[in-house]
Amino acid sequence: MSTDHHAGLEEVKVLPSAITLIEGRSLFYRGIPIEELAAKSNFEEVVYLLWYGRLPGVRELDKLKKELRENNQVPWEVAEMIHHFPRQAHPMAALRTLVSALALHDHEADILTHEANDNKAARLLAKIPVLVTGFERHRKAKSIIEPRHNLSFSANFLYMLWGEEPDELSVKTLDTALVLYAEHELNASTFNARIVTATLADMYSAVTSALATLKGNLHGGANQKAMEMLLDIGDPDAVKEYIDAKLAQKERIMGFGHRVYKEGDPRVPILKEMSEKLCRQQGYDRQFETAVAVEEYMLQKKNLRANVDFYGGLVFYALGFPTDMFTAVFAVARCAGWIAHIFEQYENNRLIRPRAEYTGPRNAVYTPIEAR
Ligand SMILES: CC(C)(COP(=O)(O)OP(=O)(O)OC[C@H]1O[C@@H](n2cnc3c(N)ncnc32)[C@H](O)[C@@H]1OP(=O)(O)O)[C@@H](O)C(=O)NCCC(=O)NCCS
Repeated sequence: MSTDHHAGLEEVKVLPSAITLIEGRSLFYRGIPIEELAAKSNFEEVVYLLWYGRLPGVRELDKLKKELRENNQVPWEVAEMIHHFPRQAHPMAALRTLVSALALHDHEADILTHEANDNKAARLLAKIPVLVTGFERHRKAKSIIEPRHNLSFSANFLYMLWGEEPDELSVKTLDTALVLYAEHELNASTFNARIVTATLADMYSAVTSALATLKGNLHGGANQKAMEMLLDIGDPDAVKEYIDAKLAQKERIMGFGHRVYKEGDPRVPILKEMSEKLCRQQGYDRQFETAVAVEEYMLQKKNLRANVDFYGGLVFYALGFPTDMFTAVFAVARCAGWIAHIFEQYENNRLIRPRAEYTGPRNAVYTPIEAR
């Protein structure tokens, strides 16, 4: 069989983009190193940076924050839908359905002007944490909590989940995790968002399809699976036996390996440090130490390094998110990056339509059904 194709589009540069640079073990949003943003910035500021290409001035940032606060009311018809969802549904399936439903209630959904797209971006991002926490409260048979107008994006997220104002360390940790998860070039979900956008479909369609893509275990679903594995292992002493058994079964170890970073993911050291701090504070020392033991063993045994989802999952765990909600938390952050790419795609659009290398039969004969 000829192999005149690029399996998985590995290393193929399919479009120009000025949003994210990945160079070796370094990651930059709009040219700014991720380490700087994690240490000094905040999620709302990074959203502005990603969407509009530069850091905001004070008034610009205030305006965006105001828009995110003022647009966080979910239409009652969509909120009502949550009450009819099965409690055992996966949070990502619920979120995907709810975002799709939001489009039905946005009068500008199919208007693709600059202004309408700006409006929709704020409306959509503002509502996503409300939907995620709303479904979480529903499945725990708790009442859904309305967002507050005097809290930051991250503080509101935790407030709507817990029903009480979160402490400073939790807010800062979640905010930094959202910054780190906000954008990552042409990962599968972002690429999918751009494919949908390139057909001149609307932003809700693009984000719905990105959510569907993020759900898979080889992409966003990995943070949930990695944490479930850590809980399954339970103790640093059990790591070798557990990993050996999985590898012997040819199973993948979730939270390890990366299509782009072969020498290490720059988000990992930051998330590792954050997860250690929070795990120690919450009494999850054993979970943190198990994670470190898995990381060391995977490097030694397979020369594979941890990716964003390994310690990212542990951060979400220590913050008190249920494991099957982790990917939805990732989605809240990545919505910022998806929208940046949707904007960029509309600006310089070309239909994305690659070719397949045909491997089927040629000149096959049609046989009538009665003769088959
Ligand atoms: C992310 C991922 C899909 C990237 O993989 P990729 O660039 O396509 O690499 P490949 O799937 O070609 O894997 C290359 C080799 O490494 C192995 N490998 C890669 N990731 C592995 C993992 N997590 N566990 C075990 N082996 C792994 C593969 O089995 C393969 O080995 P082989 O050549 O002996 O068959 C892959 O590393 C993976 O499945 N990771 C687990 C899921 C995950 O954490 N996803 C989140 C990514 S941020």
